[in-house]
Order: sequence, then structure tokens, then C-alpha cells
Amino acid sequence: MKRLFIHRTCILCITLCLPLTAFSESRQWVQLPEMMQQHMMANMRDHLRALDEILHHLASGEGDKAAEVAEQRLGMSSLESHGASHMAPLMPEGMRQTGTRMHRAASQFARIAEEGDLAAAYAHLGEITSSCVSCHSAYRIR
Ligand code: HEC
Repeated sequence: MKRLFIHRTCILCITLCLPLTAFSESRQWVQLPEMMQQHMMANMRDHLRALDEILHHLASGEGDKAAEVAEQRLGMSSLESHGASHMAPLMPEGMRQTGTRMHRAASQFARIAEEGDLAAAYAHLGEITSSCVSCHSAYRIR
């Protein structure tokens, strides 16, 4: 239980801090219209919130709830509500691919969590968070 808590804290720190850290600027600047920029940042904040909820559900042994959050808010089912079809054409290819990788990883996580093998689900979480990290280290929109 304690180890799980420490892991959870680490994952949250890493995913929250990375986008906010000023690297010696090597990230590619992707210019988006103001409204889309706002929309994308709101999506991002929800991504982090979803991740937090998933970790809480896993810690409480509620794989089905973790699966639902992952599928609906991060997975392939989230594409429409996130306006992905409007945003994807404005992204460079690499960014789009990283986004797709994240959505796929979240849907795959959802299937594993739904089956009730929480250790396997937990092990798969890194597939999601590593796509957060790789996109954040390569691109910025502001
Ligand atoms: C396809 C690219 C991409 C993926 C995947 C991605 N992000 Fe982001 N995210 C960005 C960009 C670009 C920014 C803005 C960074 C900037 O302009 O400095 C951002 C910003 C953020 C912010 C800051 C929001 C704010 O209001 O300041 C958070 C939090 C965040 N992302 C969380 C996540 C989490 C959690 C995941 C994974 C579950 C994730 N993101 C996946 C591209 C991505």
C-alpha cells in the first residue's frame, strides 16, 4: 500500500512537472489558433485529472472504474469529445503519432483493467505516461 502511494506520487509529479519545466528550449513550437490552444490545454488538465482518478481506483481495487475513466477520458473513445479531428490536422506528424499512441495505450489499459488483473493493469500504466512525457519533451504550443 505504501509502495503504491509512493509510485502514485512519483507518476503525478513527473507528469505534472514536465510540461511546466522550462527546458533549454529544444521543443518544437506548434502554432494553434487561440481557441484551439485553450481547448487543448483544458484537455490536458483533464488528462492529468483522469490519471489521478485511475490511480485512486486501482488503489481501491476498482478495475472496472479505472477502465471506464481510461477509455472515456484518455482512450480511443475520448477522441470525439476532445475534438481530435479538428486538432490533428494542425499537428506535426510526430505529435499526432504520439497522441495516437497515448489513446491506444489507454484503451489497451482499459481492457486489461476490466479483466480484473490489477497488477497487469498497473504495469501497463507506464505505456500511457511515457506518451505524455515524450510529447511534452518534444512540443510546445505556447
Ligand atoms: C500529443 C502530445 C501530448 C500528449 C500525448 C500529452 N500532452 Fe500534455 N501537453 C502537450 C502540450 C503541447 C502541452 C503544452 C506545453 C507548452 O506549450 O508549454 C501540454 C500541457 C499539459 C499540461 C499543462 C496544462 C496547463 O494548463 O498548464 C498538463 C497538466 C498535461 N499536458 C498533462 C498531460 C498528461 C497527464 C498526458 C498523458 C496522459 C498528456 N498531457 C499527454 C502535449 C501532449
